[in-house]
Amino acid sequence: MTTPTPSNETHTLGRPTIPAVDQHIVKPTNPIIAKVHATRICTVSKKAAGFVRHIEFDVSGTPLENTWHAGQSFGVIPPGTQPNGKAHKLRLYSIAAPTGGETGDGTIITTTVKRVVDEHWNTHKLFKGICSNYLCDLQIGDEVTLTGPVGKRFLLPQNPADHDYIFIATGTGIAPFRSMILDLIKLNMPSKVALLMGTPYESDLLYHSDLTNWANEHQSFTYHTAISRHITPTQSKKLYVQDRLGEDFGILGPMLASDRTLIYICGIAGMELGVFQTLAKLLPPDQLAQYLELAPEIANDIDHWERKMIPKKIKKTKRVFLEVY
Ligand code: A2P
Repeated sequence: MTTPTPSNETHTLGRPTIPAVDQHIVKPTNPIIAKVHATRICTVSKKAAGFVRHIEFDVSGTPLENTWHAGQSFGVIPPGTQPNGKAHKLRLYSIAAPTGGETGDGTIITTTVKRVVDEHWNTHKLFKGICSNYLCDLQIGDEVTLTGPVGKRFLLPQNPADHDYIFIATGTGIAPFRSMILDLIKLNMPSKVALLMGTPYESDLLYHSDLTNWANEHQSFTYHTAISRHITPTQSKKLYVQDRLGEDFGILGPMLASDRTLIYICGIAGMELGVFQTLAKLLPPDQLAQYLELAPEIANDIDHWERKMIPKKIKKTKRVFLEVY
């Protein structure tokens, strides 16, 4: 474990060039109608604690066709109205399909949706998320109103082969990484890629057999799971994704030390603090400075860092990409 020293320098080493991509080609004022092309459970087990679906939409012949890049999102406008009588607002979903879509011709856009089911804190009545349950209920051939694409930062660099990648996901935060990994596979996996994936139970892992197969097929792609609520044959203690950084430091340490490596984080809000704290504990100051710029007064007090210190006191560099919700 090392103690980082503060730094006010600008670090340009390994800084990626992010391509300029089109956004808002289909606006909420003039959305398109797509049809459900496929829908399937994408957890390991149908008995997983959460219900998560991989849903594909056919956008052929619409202005949304072939517009998106891996890492972007698209909008869904659920039918019906809010209690105040106004139309439901648009919700954004991360695209899980690669650039060019599931079939490569730009016609099939995909997302990964978890049903939101909860209890109202004061009335203790059942709360069902409007859009997630609408999407998960859809059948093949059903029509849905879409917009997009949206997003200009959470993207692979202009020349993906110039970099290596540590992708850190929890739950449906896997969606943009499925998309990016498929883009990298299309390029014959020119980079080292490590995917760290966190779920409560093994049965909740998403796209697990695909990811396992891809790791078997591509030597430079490694897949690291972190199960938070039980131990498994390959994991002797409960782990969060950030704990995987230390557990698998043999593979991840050299990647983190390399000027080529970019870190992408997507999933549960709050995980970024844990990831940043773990990086601060694992990396020597010169390496840490490639990913984080720290205010001097907090640099030596990692265990007391709080989320509200991001981004003023804990500032990510251009080599870290964050999308949490
Ligand atoms: P847990 O819920 O056991 O605390 P899902 O979206 O499928 O619910 O998965 C989210 C995963 O992220 C769970 O394994 C959850 O663990 C874990 N998690 C919750 N809080 C954090 C955090 N602050 N940092 C990293 N992982 C977290």
